[in-house]
Amino acid sequence: MKFGFFDDDNKEYVITTPKTPYPWINYLGNEDFFSLISNTSGGYSFYKDAKFRRLTRYRYNSVPIDNGGRYFYIKDEDTTWSPGWKPVKTILDKYECRHGMGYTKIKGEKNGLEAEVLFFVPLKSWCEVQKMTLTNNSDKIKKIKLFSLMEWCLWNAEDDQNNLQRNLSIGEVEVHDSTLYHKTEYKERRNHYAFYHVNSPIQGFDTDRESFIGLYNEFSEPQVVTDGKSKNSIAHGWSPIASHCLEIELKPGEAKEYVFLLGYIENDADDKWESKGVINKTKANQLIEKFNSTEKVNAAFDELASYWQDLFSICTVNSGDEKLDRMVNIWNQYQCMVTFNLSRSASFFEVGIGRGMGFRDSNQDLIGFVHQIPERARERIIDIASTQFEDGGAYHQYQPLTKRGNDAIGGNFNDDPLWLILSTTAYIKETGDYSILDELVPFDNDKSKAKPHFEHLKASFFHVVNNLGPHQLPLIGRADWNDCLNLNCFSTDPNESFQTTENKANGTAESLMIAGLFVVYGKEYINLCHKIGKTKEAEEAQPHVDAMVIAIKTHGWDGEWFLRAYDYYGKKVGSNENDEGKIFIESQGWCTMAGIGEEEGLCHQALDSVKEKLDTKYGIVLNNPAFTEYVLEYGEISTYPAGYKENAGIFCHNNPWIIIGETKIGRGDQAWEYFKKICPAYLEDISELHKTEPYVYSQMIAGKDAFIPGEAKNSWLTGTASWNYYTIVQYILGIRPQYDGLKIDPCIPKNWKTYTINRKFRGAHYKIIVNNEAGVNKGISKLLLNGQELKGNIIPLQKAGSLNKIVVSMG
Ligand code: BGC
Ligand code: NOJ
Repeated sequence: MKFGFFDDDNKEYVITTPKTPYPWINYLGNEDFFSLISNTSGGYSFYKDAKFRRLTRYRYNSVPIDNGGRYFYIKDEDTTWSPGWKPVKTILDKYECRHGMGYTKIKGEKNGLEAEVLFFVPLKSWCEVQKMTLTNNSDKIKKIKLFSLMEWCLWNAEDDQNNLQRNLSIGEVEVHDSTLYHKTEYKERRNHYAFYHVNSPIQGFDTDRESFIGLYNEFSEPQVVTDGKSKNSIAHGWSPIASHCLEIELKPGEAKEYVFLLGYIENDADDKWESKGVINKTKANQLIEKFNSTEKVNAAFDELASYWQDLFSICTVNSGDEKLDRMVNIWNQYQCMVTFNLSRSASFFEVGIGRGMGFRDSNQDLIGFVHQIPERARERIIDIASTQFEDGGAYHQYQPLTKRGNDAIGGNFNDDPLWLILSTTAYIKETGDYSILDELVPFDNDKSKAKPHFEHLKASFFHVVNNLGPHQLPLIGRADWNDCLNLNCFSTDPNESFQTTENKANGTAESLMIAGLFVVYGKEYINLCHKIGKTKEAEEAQPHVDAMVIAIKTHGWDGEWFLRAYDYYGKKVGSNENDEGKIFIESQGWCTMAGIGEEEGLCHQALDSVKEKLDTKYGIVLNNPAFTEYVLEYGEISTYPAGYKENAGIFCHNNPWIIIGETKIGRGDQAWEYFKKICPAYLEDISELHKTEPYVYSQMIAGKDAFIPGEAKNSWLTGTASWNYYTIVQYILGIRPQYDGLKIDPCIPKNWKTYTINRKFRGAHYKIIVNNEAGVNKGISKLLLNGQELKGNIIPLQKAGSLNKIVVSMG
């Protein structure tokens, strides 16, 4: 069953009922100011950091779900309603929510009055615009009252929920004409405040939650709205809010527009005050001035649309399959931008206080984003590398506001360093900018320890080499990519987190996934060394990669698939010898991507085993059989009920690793079948089961052992977005940036006849037409560049500004 439809021309998903199977959300903002918004206008805003600079309140895991947001109440005679249905929940005559690129439009109609609200964060601005258009479609004069509502968060989202003994006494506001200011803690160490403005005189306001809502009422029935009269309350402590009241008259057919503006301001410490106790509003007034008319707002909205249009024009496909095209051209790229911006910090499943920017996560997110805004990708790589330790190890995450590493969610994950090689080489291949390697980058955020970025890559490589276990395979540390494979943890205390608790000393558990990863990115490192003339470094590194290949072949093959690990006792994990967890996906992905034992048929065999044991109707599960008991020496993986999360869930992030493995051995039909199984646009028809948004990937779909197989969770912030984008564009459609050109290496279903890709690459434009008259999966028989036949399958770099036509014949 569907709950809406794709409007590809407008790059929107149109939701036609407020009661989606779960709140379906969107993100507003791209650089500093961000908002999350659900299809009923729930959500919140923050500046840079969802933990340290939260602007408005939201109630996670609330009853009912999705409580708190930017709410409007329309009081029209005896009927009160909200344009987004919530919070009042009056049944609307019409409802529609359009989630688009960086904006959301929500429209409701009741008794002949239509209210449409356009929400967006203008480019380079620290504010959320809410443009409300009220249209009287009836034949009577309408006299209504419109109330707005936002609830302020006292900046630190974690403290805001916990430290009530202090917080309920500190809230402070100021009111000036139609602008309601939030200035809690401004008089002490904070030099920032927020405001909520409307570009019209108001007939009343409230800033104290209890006065507005009533102590025992809910968001759905605020006392002030019931009474039809604001109290002009000034908050002193308790919970500060911002609510305007507008009395509006509309003739039949008449429409009126209002611009509401949520803004965030930072002042210099010595220029904070206008007069004693009165905040300096100069910057707020400037921001208001920028968006105080419909014309200005419309112009900013058009700019946003062209911004996205330009970004998307860098790589587009025309395949004839509208679902594929809408994912590649619109939604998958859009999700990659969101994961690039927010890593795993703030979604409707990530509360924004637990995690900042993940080291491994952000490096991986970059591969789906780097073509969009390479300058931002470069800055991100440097930020991440600045948190690395001199021995190559890394903080597992850093806070976006401070850019400093912290170990609040654990450390010592031995896969972390290698992802830096992935992101950096992807960046150079996209841009040709080798200068990043010379950039001085601190270790552990300490400038005195800065070295050229290349040294960080070297440290990453040698972190693996210097941490090998008894089988000469990489030690796993706390865990590898699979955070829940805690092979050195041995936790018996339910109050401990598997992610942060002390591990057993001298743990010697080893990871076959890191082994495969090391072969892939070790080779990348060596290639790069050769490319930049660091032959000595390349020669120094090569034997370690060769040795790893041998170690994997010798100790990592279980007979029909690759082992997953050796545990603390040196016992096999992911082996036919085990009763549960006999086979895992990650090592099959990485060892086949690394081409380990390809000559002996190991890759084919491993991938056949994946098909036989892990493939399901809804995607490939992580392991099989699922764990049904807690295994002390395995950790968190065995705590999940069978079929969920890392315990045999379809952990979408790692499905593309298998898909790339399949393309390496040329099985295009199989690769495509796997791709479609988890690709959201193909799941739209089963939205009632899938539950999460049909326009973005979710982290996990419940596996075959789960209570409800096929049900997804944790949408939006997942490495699935970038890996699937990377996989479809670079390995299935086969357009792969290289240091010296574009590699054309499609691996597609035999029955695909033709498709076209338009790619801007290093300033030149390439129109690539792939023809598959021969009906093959892989292989190119002829490649024409502007009519000239080329040898091999790499299109050399063409002049900036040139338009090039490439015709590829497969066969
Ligand atoms: C989740 C993992 C996550 C880890 C760290 C675990 O509970 O299952 O997916 O990576 O926490 O936050
Ligand atoms: C989610 C985490 O963000 C990511 O870092 C990890 O690799 C996966 N879970 C798998 O455990």
